[in-house]
Amino acid sequence: MLHRAIGIFDSGVGGLTVFKEIMHLLPGEDLLYLGDTARVPYGTKSAATVEQYALEAAAFLADQGVKLLVVACNTASAVALPALRERFQLPVIGVIEPGARRAARSLNHRIGVIGTEGTINSGRYREAIHALLPDAQVVAVPCPLFVPLAEEGWAEHEVARLTAQEYLQPLIAAQIDTLVLGCTHYPLLRNTLQQVLGPQVQLVDSAEETALRVAELFREQGLARPEHGGRRAFFVTDVPTRFERVGRAFLGDVLGPVKQVRIG
Ligand code: DGL
Repeated sequence: MLHRAIGIFDSGVGGLTVFKEIMHLLPGEDLLYLGDTARVPYGTKSAATVEQYALEAAAFLADQGVKLLVVACNTASAVALPALRERFQLPVIGVIEPGARRAARSLNHRIGVIGTEGTINSGRYREAIHALLPDAQVVAVPCPLFVPLAEEGWAEHEVARLTAQEYLQPLIAAQIDTLVLGCTHYPLLRNTLQQVLGPQVQLVDSAEETALRVAELFREQGLARPEHGGRRAFFVTDVPTRFERVGRAFLGDVLGPVKQVRIG
């Protein structure tokens, strides 16, 4: 069993984008990943349900002795961080503040945010951006079809391009210069989104920003224990077949054996 690992969880496979960035920045750390694949998607569920799921996922990771909890899911970060921080005596990092921090560097202060319905309806990105840049014009749009497109391996397919053209219309009209990819799956659609928006729009990948925040916290709190040697373990709550297949699109051969567990 991994000890004092960084615990990372998501509703499914998408959080592997965050896993990958943390792995690159902190290669010596043990990483433990949980995908709640039996209950994915979180993005269409109520805040109360997602909070409950997040508490159960975090309890599983806390039982494994993790030293830090990374909520690698925008929807869970949007609705469950206060409850997680209250319940667990661990540093908890979500993906929203890091993404907002990067977006607040916008030059024209017109910022787009895309995510699941749960994330956009929570208003958390808008709030986090306004806390840093009070005069920002934030245009937030749910893009529910992007998750299945990414999972299908269609991130650069014509269907994805047409879907993006439709969803991103209000953002193009608002002349945003920055777009927050507020969902774990969206970094896979990066090329398509950039093509539709044009090169002048800066895409903010929450995964990259969150990994930077984790590394910063390690420095601040002296959490690093590189002698543990970078072991990795992967858990899911449904049979692992699909996770293993789709996970390779995110992680390649780094994805090791995946074990099914019961939580909650
Ligand atoms: N992980 C979710 C997020 O980042 C996307 C998938 C889901 O809806 O569960 O919001």
